[in-house]
Amino acid sequence: MSKTFGKVILSGEHAVVYGKTAIVASIGLGVRVKTVGKGKSDYNPVVAKAIEIAGGSQDLKLEIESDLPVGSGLGSSAAVAAAVIKEVRKQLGKPIDQDELFRLTLECEKIAHGNPSGIDPAAVVYGGLIAYTKGQPLEQLLVKRQYKLLLVDTGKPVESTKEMVEMVANSVKTTEVIEKITYMVREIKDRLGRKQDIGNCINQNGLLLEELGVVGEDAIKLSNKLRSLGADVKITGAGGVQTGSGMMIVMSSDLAKFKEFLDNKQFKYFETIVGGKQ
Ligand code: PMV
Repeated sequence: MSKTFGKVILSGEHAVVYGKTAIVASIGLGVRVKTVGKGKSDYNPVVAKAIEIAGGSQDLKLEIESDLPVGSGLGSSAAVAAAVIKEVRKQLGKPIDQDELFRLTLECEKIAHGNPSGIDPAAVVYGGLIAYTKGQPLEQLLVKRQYKLLLVDTGKPVESTKEMVEMVANSVKTTEVIEKITYMVREIKDRLGRKQDIGNCINQNGLLLEELGVVGEDAIKLSNKLRSLGADVKITGAGGVQTGSGMMIVMSSDLAKFKEFLDNKQFKYFETIVGGKQ
């Protein structure tokens, strides 16, 4: 069996496409892949590519189990691709190192995302808390404090990450908002290093993503409600506007209050911890 974990972008999505730094953390939810024999299987394009790129045969029968909602910003496609590649290489008796796994997972991501920054494969392959800048060596952040967050499901976006990235590229506000997001990323990175609260900065980044136009009406309504009750809120990942906006980070010193609120409104959510020892 081969395992990988999903990710949450704390800060800097979309900005990372423009060569800026983003901060990403691996989470406790993930993917498990087991080889169960040989036979004909109908794999989705990412799995088929992962098997091929790892040098495996398409008649390998794999059982894939995932805790990650698909297409909602938690790195599902990268986590599946990386776990499949690891499993195939294990079966071939050629275990893979992290740098090669990163390269091959990034190739698979291109099927789903066109021209991805590589942040998802980086988080899935190297784990922990990472400051990621496209084309540069990644920086592992040693964060001694644990930060608890809720990841609330605002619904699967109908738009792909590629479409959201294109939408941002076509907006006149992009340059200005990306600069402001970059400032928040720096501030969050400093605060993580000093074991300080990051809630307020996460919330500012959340408002900037709304200004960028990647958050839909329903998610904005929910954010505003949660903010009015005292939470810090930000969507994570590419976002979506026509229906759902993917997963939303909720931070507060009183998460129990927000869990009760979300339970009452029948929202699905996960609780996760980033930083420290998981
Ligand atoms: O795949 P998602 O939803 O986590 O989005 C990735 C983050 C973006 O910055 C929007 C795109 C990218 O390639 O970095």
